[in-house]
Amino acid sequence: MGIRITILCDNLVGHLVGFGEHGFSAFIETDRGTYLFDTGGGPSVVKNSLSLGKDLRTVQKIFLSHGHYDHTGGLPEVLKIKGRVDVHAHPHVFLDRIAILKEDGKETKRFVGIPYKKGYLESLGANFIMNTDFAEVEKGMFLTGEVPRKTSFEKPDSRLFSEIEGKTEPDIFLDDQSLTIESEKGSILVLGCAHSGMINIINHVIHKTGKENFYAILGGTHLDFLTPEQLEASIQALNELDMGKIGVSHCTGMRAAFRLNLEFGDRFFYGGVGSVLEV
Ligand SMILES: [Fe+2]
Ligand SMILES: [Fe+2]
Repeated sequence: MGIRITILCDNLVGHLVGFGEHGFSAFIETDRGTYLFDTGGGPSVVKNSLSLGKDLRTVQKIFLSHGHYDHTGGLPEVLKIKGRVDVHAHPHVFLDRIAILKEDGKETKRFVGIPYKKGYLESLGANFIMNTDFAEVEKGMFLTGEVPRKTSFEKPDSRLFSEIEGKTEPDIFLDDQSLTIESEKGSILVLGCAHSGMINIINHVIHKTGKENFYAILGGTHLDFLTPEQLEASIQALNELDMGKIGVSHCTGMRAAFRLNLEFGDRFFYGGVGSVLEV
């Protein structure tokens, strides 16, 4: 099927129009319909949809990669335009999330979870459909569900915590899920923040779909927040894949993006606001 994916929200603006923010959202148009993967943090999703000519009223389903504010905070703005719509997510999307950061020798605690309650989002039209397993959400489109952690080199971000029943614990991100879309040229994998580890996610998708050929992998990889060793091990694993393009965004960060560009040359692109991937 014909597919066009446009980056609506990202940390960077690369195509003359739009606003950047710390967040991610991708507008997906296929022969079967129009979908939104993540919503950014809130400030840019509607503005960017207007400047890029993407009509949020046409969105048939919304997919949430995980419960961080920078992927879910734009939901009310989108729902005010769209009204009733299915929103696919893992039940842990509503967990309280915090980041503990060390700045100037001081420890700061920041709330980084979804900023809105389920009831409020439902009152604006969200119809939540929760999944924990690999799920076909539309013909040829799959959400990964929970991703088994198998690689030895992909470690969680030690600054991130979740609060379950009043206890603050390192966040294991069971809710981290990605979207894979089948195309005639191979799978297209869209990552949110890849908190499960980009290579774990890719391996899970191959295991579930039985398809090893990726036309493109795009979205947030979180590689800049982790160690240089993890970045190099991830690059080595990517080199062993049957992968066409790699388009990174958001939490990939500049250093990791430069390194990936060096490694993959013309197959690399930065997925900033307005970037388009077409099949
Ligand atoms: Fe993120
Ligand atoms: Fe995240």
